[in-house]
Parts: sequence; C-alpha cells; structure tokens
Amino acid sequence: MSVMIYPGTFDPFTNGHLDIARRASKLCTTLYVVILPNVHKQTHFTLEERIDMAKACLKGIDNVIVESFDGLLVRYVQQKDAIAVVRGLRSESDFRYELEMATANKLLYNDYESIFLSSSIELAFTSSSIVREVATYGGDISRMVPAEILDTVMERLHVHREEL
Ligand code: COA
Repeated sequence: MSVMIYPGTFDPFTNGHLDIARRASKLCTTLYVVILPNVHKQTHFTLEERIDMAKACLKGIDNVIVESFDGLLVRYVQQKDAIAVVRGLRSESDFRYELEMATANKLLYNDYESIFLSSSIELAFTSSSIVREVATYGGDISRMVPAEILDTVMERLHVHREEL
C-alpha cells in the first residue's frame, strides 16, 4: 500500500491543484490532500471553507482523502507512513522555493522524499492569488477553478469587495 501526500494552503483550490492531485492519485494507493498552516500567508478563506472546497473538487477521485493538519509537514508524513510528498512545478520560479522546502524537510526527516509533477502548460500561470484577485473584481475565473466551487469563490470574494 503506497500513501502519498499533496500538501498546500489551497486558498482556494484551483484547476492547477486539481490537475496535480488527479495525476498524483494515479501514482499511489491513497493520496492525502492536506491543508497545512503556512506562516508566511494570511489566508482569505477559513480552514473549514478550504477543506469543503477541496473536498467538493476532489469528490470524483476515489482514492483521495482531504484532511487538515496543524503542525509540521514532516510529522504528518510520518503519521501517515507516506512514501512521498507531491508538489506541482509551474515554472522555474517555483523550483527554488520547492527545493528549499524539500531540503529543509529532508533535514527534519531523513526518509522524506519529494515528487515534483510539472503542471499542465495551460495552467502554468494559475495561482490562488490570481484567482482571488480576478474574483474580487468580478472577473471570469471559470477556467481557473473547478466548476464545483466557482459560485462559492465568486460569492465570497466579490461580495466581500462590495462590502469594503
Ligand atoms: N497550480 C496552480 N497553482 C499552484 C500550483 C499548481 N500546480 N502549484 C502551486 N500553486 C500556487 C498556489 O496557488 C499558491 O499560490 P499563491 O501563493 O498565489 O496563493 C502557491 O503556488 C503555493 O501554494 P500552495 O500550493 O497552496 O502551497 P504552499 O506553498 O502555500 O504550501 C506548505 C506550503 C503548506 C506545504 C508549507 O508551508 C508547509 O509545509 N507548512 C507546514 C509547516 C511546515 O512543515 N513548515 C516547514 C516547511 S519547510
């Protein structure tokens, strides 16, 4: 039985994340998509909202489980006895950050392994912050986020802007 982990902030989940999760799920028996704290980021969606959105986007993939974890990624990896952590690489600018994280995690846990999947070309410039920015101004994000969460993201961010 091979377990893999796909960690992130997922603020919100995007088509890019879905692409990586779908492809990673084919490489293992169970894929845990886990929402973790990132000390460098102030999130716009609550943890519950991010969990619900990730679950809605991934409900069609049988071997994917969505969870959250409040702690170090390496602890979660050890708890699940996972063989590897999956991350998506969109461009060379992701590479440095990912290498830093992978190296730090390896220092913390010697059996830590990373698998990097290159993102599909049409999604190479999608990011959660671009989705948030476009949605805030009422733009069309239908090619950036899964249909299951389109209304939730638009209602939440666009309404928020009008309240300002
Ligand atoms: N498609 C679309 N967007 C992608 C993507 C893809 N394939 N891959 C990455 N991204 C984007 C995300 O949308 C996000 O964009 P944003 O910065 O504009 O919001 C950004 O790239 C990366 O975010 P995400 O994939 O959600 O993950 P993250 O980099 O915020 O996650 C953690 C980092 C949570 C894995 C990391 O902070 C962590 O491990 N935290 C736990 C504590 C810990 O162990 N810290 C030590 C780390 S060494």
